[in-house]
Amino acid sequence: MCSVVGYIGMKESRAIVLEGLSRLEYRGYDSAGFACIDPDDNRLMYAKSEGKLSQLVSRLQDDPIDGFAGIGHTRWSTHGASSEQNAHPHFDCHKQISVVHNGIIENHHELKRQLEAAGHSFHSQTDSETIAHLFEAALTGARALPDALKQLVGRLQGAYAFVSLLQDYPDTIIAVRKRSPLCIGIGEGQMFVASDMLAFAGKAQNVLFMPDESFALVKKDGVELYSFDGTSLPFTVQEIDVTWDLYEKQGHEHYMLKEIYEQKTAIHDTVDFLHSVKDRVWDDLGMTAQQIRDLDSINLIGCGTSWHAGYIAKFFFETICMLPTQLHLGSEFRYLPFFPSQKSMFVAISQSGETADTLEAVRMVHDCKMPTVALTNISSSTMVREADGFLLTQAGREIAVASTKAFSTQLTALYWLAHRIAHEKKMISLEQLERSQEDLLVAAEVLENAIENYKLLIIKELAPRYARYRKMLFLGRHSSYPFAMEAALKLKEIAYIFATAYPAGELKHGPLALIDTDIPVIIFSHQDSLIYQKLLVNAQEVKARGGHIIAFAFDGQSELIELADVVFEIPRVKPLLGPLAMTGLMQFFFYAIAKELGRAIDKPRNLAKSVTVE
Ligand code: F6R
Repeated sequence: MCSVVGYIGMKESRAIVLEGLSRLEYRGYDSAGFACIDPDDNRLMYAKSEGKLSQLVSRLQDDPIDGFAGIGHTRWSTHGASSEQNAHPHFDCHKQISVVHNGIIENHHELKRQLEAAGHSFHSQTDSETIAHLFEAALTGARALPDALKQLVGRLQGAYAFVSLLQDYPDTIIAVRKRSPLCIGIGEGQMFVASDMLAFAGKAQNVLFMPDESFALVKKDGVELYSFDGTSLPFTVQEIDVTWDLYEKQGHEHYMLKEIYEQKTAIHDTVDFLHSVKDRVWDDLGMTAQQIRDLDSINLIGCGTSWHAGYIAKFFFETICMLPTQLHLGSEFRYLPFFPSQKSMFVAISQSGETADTLEAVRMVHDCKMPTVALTNISSSTMVREADGFLLTQAGREIAVASTKAFSTQLTALYWLAHRIAHEKKMISLEQLERSQEDLLVAAEVLENAIENYKLLIIKELAPRYARYRKMLFLGRHSSYPFAMEAALKLKEIAYIFATAYPAGELKHGPLALIDTDIPVIIFSHQDSLIYQKLLVNAQEVKARGGHIIAFAFDGQSELIELADVVFEIPRVKPLLGPLAMTGLMQFFFYAIAKELGRAIDKPRNLAKSVTVE
């Protein structure tokens, strides 16, 4: 989503804010803007531009405004096209109040109508501009900033985080948070504000994660925190233990490639971590061992790639600990009936822990008093704070918009959790639990070796050949079907090639009509012999109609290997881990196609990481 960054201190803010924005550019990159207070005359100055942050940087080179308090923004459009006019910051009528905003003001139509009727004039199509005008109105007659802010937030509906810089208060940055993430970096004689602490990692020593429905007055030497009702809030800060260097590309052309290669290590780290928490895991999950023994079902929820991980994990839970598992899509959850149960647990799968659709579902289920667990990669995320418990993957920060190592570590954690529950229910022994960890490490090895084995063939022959196609059909069965869905999502989002996934048995019920020489069919095999035999029949159906097959097959699946036009042969792993073993190669293949097509791989068009709007 959008990113907001602010700085106030003894240094000039422009370079700091721009660096923060560049670290967070994965959150949105349609347009960018910067505002600061001129140290000479305390005037509010700004620059904005359409397109990526680099365009704002060049604009600021020509017009080098700077000051000791500054705020910035990169945008992922929701209301109003991507244009300079809609770029943040937005202003009140007198250009004395600047606002950068992430989220959605749901009642902005109504507010805008009222404000226009009161004489305010608007200059953009955004919902965000409403905040600046409303702030202007709230300040008229307010005794002090907290009173005006209390009034302001009382009128805004939706989920939002915004930062504001006012000409009349040059020594203060205002930070406001409701449901969207916002944190304050606390340094010596300097403060930072950002959507994600990565923006100031290495620059501030401590971080304050703003509580939900709070606002802060941030000055270079201190922070005042208030709840939305204007009550002053005490707060504690946490030490920041990450530095930005960890997140450099480290010689790789793209973050996505770096993250594909990091998967073996990430799986190892996740297994090591889970092993280390195995005895206290139910505490972390916010549940008792008895509650786990009493479980009669599992509920999983996620969006996009995390939903695909959940879909594959449904097979883990139903097979390993024999718990009926219901899978929910975050974006649909609120509109469908849900039947809470104390004998179930609701596991929200989210790399970022900030995805609004998933988070809202967690809040709803939490309100029903059903146990909620955040399975996420970010320990400081909102989801970890709001769910009853959490389970962390150890992927390390994922910067590329397309999820890679987050997916493989989610599968790792969910596979382990299914075994850990089975062990608690006395369905498997400790040795079997430990063996499951070994199985994950074997799959991680296969994942990495498969990339190495086919890397050159992909780069030299296959990527140039398949980059020419405009659409592809993906088939799988059982757990390889959700994997096919994940593969289709990867190809669409990074290569902009249309891809659709089908359970292979459904081919004859319609999609077989698509088969011709223009649509490669990618089949993801399965190690179960019955499922494999069925997949083989489907592959023959494709071949019989002149179709062209790329197969991800397992060692010894000679019939499929002979039938396919291109084969990736993968060593056997535990059958349920087949998708994990194929993950790296699938991602690398599509990465190479996207590269061949010159796509913006780390920041695909129209997308952003961490979707904090519904
Ligand atoms: C695709 C991708 C997205 C995310 C989805 C959920 O590559 O990254 O589909 O998986 O937006 O994000 P999280 O996992 O952060 O909740």
